[in-house]
Parts: sequence; structure tokens; C-alpha cells
Amino acid sequence: MNQDQLDRFERWFDGYTNRFLGNDDVVGANLQLKQQHTQRVRAESVLLARELALSADETRIAELIALFHDVGRFPQFAEYRTFNDPKSVNHSALGVQILRREGVLEALAPRERQWVETGIGLHGRKALPSALTGRALLFAKIIRDADKIDIFRIVAENYEQFRNDPDNFMLEIDPPDEPRYTPAVLEAVLNGEPLDFTQLRTLTDAKLCHIGWVHDLNFTASLKRIDQCGFLPKLFAFLPADDEIQRVCRKVRDYVDAKLTLAP
Ligand SMILES: [Fe+2]
Repeated sequence: MNQDQLDRFERWFDGYTNRFLGNDDVVGANLQLKQQHTQRVRAESVLLARELALSADETRIAELIALFHDVGRFPQFAEYRTFNDPKSVNHSALGVQILRREGVLEALAPRERQWVETGIGLHGRKALPSALTGRALLFAKIIRDADKIDIFRIVAENYEQFRNDPDNFMLEIDPPDEPRYTPAVLEAVLNGEPLDFTQLRTLTDAKLCHIGWVHDLNFTASLKRIDQCGFLPKLFAFLPADDEIQRVCRKVRDYVDAKLTLAP
């Protein structure tokens, strides 16, 4: 894929997603956030691709996957007014459907199209299928890490905004903002096990789940990025000062420190 093709894909993305912004303030605010998220995930993917010494062509593929990874979010929120997949639609699968229906990826070589569709289709999965190999696996790992890096940023910023001015907060808060947590969620994070969004009952569960994502990052470069940006202490500060939760925070911090110490 050359740069001209990537530029054309970007114009398609802008045109397609702008259609959903509409006149509704809540839909507009949430979807503008997704457009900005897309651009930052794109930048994070390029950073990761460089760290992994990918070629210029491969870097553009990683960039394209990032550009399109959340395209399904736009019709999802416009129709259901939620980003909660179990309550609406699987936005990753919907993204692939949209790209096929609109014939967007037809200009790509078949194997490139397959990498792009696989990366988008699997970016929101709890875990990647073990049968995935080669470049398809590499690109799927890159988008999953780049997406998580930016979600760390978003949740840290959103919790702060919500805490400072809850009445004017227009973004979706889901699940409900309650200090209690689900013991199975805390246990999974302590054990470094992946969580399904259907297991999350409260906002504290969601915060714990996000913190637990450090275990699911594929590259040390991603952990380094999260550490450099200071996202973990920011997220820890929004959790209740409960002994069990403090134990999780310490364990996650120790895990990240150990991984970074071992890194070359
Ligand atoms: Fe997504």
C-alpha cells in the first residue's frame, strides 16, 4: 500500500464518520471523541511500528488498521447511543461489515486486505485466537496495544473531568458510578487474567479492568509508553482507598516495574 492509498482511505474515513455527528450534542460529543481517539491510536501504532522496526509499507498497514479499527463505533452510537457492545452490537465485526459493504478495501492486495480486516475484527476480543500467526498476528497485536494505550489516556482524562464537573459531563458513563466492585473482577486483575465486558457491573469494575490491561499488552514498548505517560498513578487515584484495591494497585505496579527492568 502506498501513501496515496492511505491518504484516500483517510478522506473516506472523514466523510463516512462526519455523517454521524449530526445535530445531537451527546452523539456529536461522543463521536468526536472517537474521531480524536482514532487519530491518537494511529499515532501510537506508528510509534509501535517504529519500535518494532517495521518497514514503511508495514507501518502504513498498521496505520490503516488504526484508522479503521473503530469505524463501527459511529453507526453503533448513532443508533444505540451506547458504546457498550453487549447492549448493542459488536462494533469490531460491524466495522469489517461496513468496509466490505462500501467496497473500501478493494484497492488493496488480498493479503493486505486480510490483515486489515483481521486486525479490525479482533481488536476488541478478550484474547486473540491461538491459530493466528505471521503478519496477521503482528498487526492484530499492534492495534490491540495502540488502542489500549490511548484508552488509558482517555479514561484517566474522563474520570478527572467527571469528578470535577459531573453535571456538564456529556460522555457516556457506563456501567454506573459506584464504589463497590465485583470480587471476581478484582480476582481476575490480581491474577492477570483477561476480563469480559459482560463481567463489569460498576464503574469501579471498569477501572480495575482497565488497570488489568497491563497484563494483556503484547510489547514491552507499550508498557514503557504507559509508564512514561504516567497513566497508572492517575488511574490508581480514581479507585476507592480500600485495602484489597490497594493490593491490586501494588501488584500491577510491581508487574510493570519487573517487566521494564527485564527489558533490554
Ligand atoms: Fe474499538
